[in-house]
Amino acid sequence: MNDLTRQEHLADPDDIGNNNSGNPTFDSVLQARLSRRNVLRGGVASAMGAMFGSLGLSACGGTTAVATQQAGNVKSETLLGFTAVAKSLADSVVIPTGYTATVLYALGDPLTGATPAYRNDGTDTSFENRAGDHADGMEYFGLSAAGVRDDNSSDRALLAMNHEAITQQFLHANGATANPRPIGEADKEIAAHGVSIVEVKKANGAFATVQSSAFNRRITPLTPIEISGVARGNALMKTIHSPAGTATRGTINNCGTGRTPWGTLLTGEENWAGYFARGAADDLARANDKSVTSLKRYGRNQGAAGRHGWETAANTEPYLRFNISKLGASLDGTDDYRNELNGFGYIVEIDPYDKTALIKKRTAMGRFAHESAAFGLLGAGKPVALYMGDDSQGEYIYKYVSTANWDAADASAANRIAVGDKYLDSGKLYVAKFNADGSGEWIELNIANAAIAAYPTYIFADQADVVVNARIAADAVGATKMDRPEWCGVHPVTGEIYYTLTNNLNRRLEPVAGQYGLDAANPRAYTDPRTATLSNPSTSNSGNVNGHIIRVAETAGNHAATTFRWDIYLFGAQSDADPARVNLSSLTGDQDFSSPDGLVFSSATGLCWIQTDDAYYGDTTNCMMLAAIPGAIGDGSTKTISYTKLDNSVVNVSTPVGKAATASTLKRFLVGPVDCEITGLAETPDGKTMFVNIQHPGETISKANVTDPTKYLSHWPASAGYGAGGATGRPRSATIVITKNDGGRIGS
Ligand code: FEO
Ligand code: CA
Ligand code: CA
Ligand code: CA
Repeated sequence: MNDLTRQEHLADPDDIGNNNSGNPTFDSVLQARLSRRNVLRGGVASAMGAMFGSLGLSACGGTTAVATQQAGNVKSETLLGFTAVAKSLADSVVIPTGYTATVLYALGDPLTGATPAYRNDGTDTSFENRAGDHADGMEYFGLSAAGVRDDNSSDRALLAMNHEAITQQFLHANGATANPRPIGEADKEIAAHGVSIVEVKKANGAFATVQSSAFNRRITPLTPIEISGVARGNALMKTIHSPAGTATRGTINNCGTGRTPWGTLLTGEENWAGYFARGAADDLARANDKSVTSLKRYGRNQGAAGRHGWETAANTEPYLRFNISKLGASLDGTDDYRNELNGFGYIVEIDPYDKTALIKKRTAMGRFAHESAAFGLLGAGKPVALYMGDDSQGEYIYKYVSTANWDAADASAANRIAVGDKYLDSGKLYVAKFNADGSGEWIELNIANAAIAAYPTYIFADQADVVVNARIAADAVGATKMDRPEWCGVHPVTGEIYYTLTNNLNRRLEPVAGQYGLDAANPRAYTDPRTATLSNPSTSNSGNVNGHIIRVAETAGNHAATTFRWDIYLFGAQSDADPARVNLSSLTGDQDFSSPDGLVFSSATGLCWIQTDDAYYGDTTNCMMLAAIPGAIGDGSTKTISYTKLDNSVVNVSTPVGKAATASTLKRFLVGPVDCEITGLAETPDGKTMFVNIQHPGETISKANVTDPTKYLSHWPASAGYGAGGATGRPRSATIVITKNDGGRIGS
């Protein structure tokens, strides 16, 4: 894949399903279901009214003007008071009138005083000391003037951000060399992945990075990392690098993030499997043992090449570890990397304030294509809950509930990773099952569950095996196959959990092998016509093309509950799409979107920010970010979508749907440059500065076109005056800073 174009990107690992398990897709839900309008009235909704006031939100979804006391002045603020941004195909960042966006930190920017400025011509090296590529999830960690943790600081901080992937061609002067990969090219590409910790500080009223900060650092796919939790030391984790099964190197394809209450970063490993190669006869080499079942379920069939061919660079370390074939004679895997893949696919905890603190993979939270990790509302003396999604077609929604009960004193503990050990290494992992009547169940993935213990497809050895092969355990208990669970966020007032389901081109009314039938929680399949573009040459797409956002309310507001209610908050759609089958949330041109991905609730304003990673509405608009004021589960009604099968019989799918969006509850705030994705969002505690990542502008590029700037789809941010290259520069992933010109909060 040394000539990766956007067309191939459409077949990225997270666009492909590996879930061929036989658990039901709930054809039974195709029956009409009872209206659930009356199910959730009362308690939560009425309590919300009072609580929304403090956040300046309206429980009934109307725009609310609130007066806030600021430095002696009474200032009126109307959330969603800005004028919506129109859809755009321009190669620039478009934001509302009255706001300013500037570039802060981009691919290649130096993180030490000794690192030269980025030339942006493919000749730069030393990415261990530069910003990585494809900036993604991001969190803000405040610093005091004295340079210590200060959660209330709005003018100095560490930004911790993921570098999910690379636009490989632009990292090299003449594009990437085919396999076998030159070591120099592989080294650059490996180091351009991982995580950045970069200090940012306000000077003269504007944020800038601090190039010489002692906090700055990169975590790469080669950084030492501990295996922590139930799978630490397990037989599945043993490699030639760590015969004890307690350590691995690095983190890769980091997508969403989370911020712990004790001040550490959680980063999710998403499409990690594709970086590792397997020999053509590896199934037989493994005697077709159960590791083959596991590898296939996680998307690594024998004969698969590494995504960037790093395993071909040399027959030495660190390239050897990217070949996970069984090559040695040992019985336990301590003489090769046959178990290397079991060291990836976790939520990883990093202390951004302390370079000496161990970095840990929290295995108890399960192994899958992790996106974000969102905390349930904290309650003293109650377990800590985290919500997570597995982004691949037909994969599942998970939650983790800690064994330890929350002690508020831990929020300010000096040893932050020790606090992580307490809450994140011991707990219960659950997977979600969505019932057609609007109820749902969290099913614990425990070796004691007979459905798991006696699962014929895969014989689990112990609880470590269950968390490492969480997808298989979830298959065993009949979890609901979702339309690619991306980020999730927890409403700061209601505690309801919002999950983006980005899209699923294999959702069908009448599925064939490898496709997924309709159910109440994934109720749409349709054909969306489009104009072919360079980055997506198709003239139509089918399935759940535009994605949706589902939300969950735990029973009695208890994040440790094993039952919940759910509805679909919003359906992505073109505003001109069929209102009876596609545009079910009545989106207008000021708010229509496709492929929701990032989702973050502001801790300052309470606004729900929705970001898109879309290839299907791209003939009409670049990817975008919207601001929303959601209501609560039960504020809408049941909708029934009527389908006609090939034999002309009619099938009705009913689903609980949130209240339709209005101009005062959902508004487009930003549109990015060409061929980008909008992802990652962090804010200052005062809500007046927002950081957003513009990922992979102009990533559709072939090797042949790298040296011809007229063929680039984007020149941003060079074209906006940032860094080297000017109007014909190579595009770069970058972090932007957004402020409001009147000094107000973002989203007002
Ligand atoms: Fe990295 Fe599923 O987005
Ligand atoms: Ca279309
Ligand atoms: Ca994503
Ligand atoms: Ca995505």
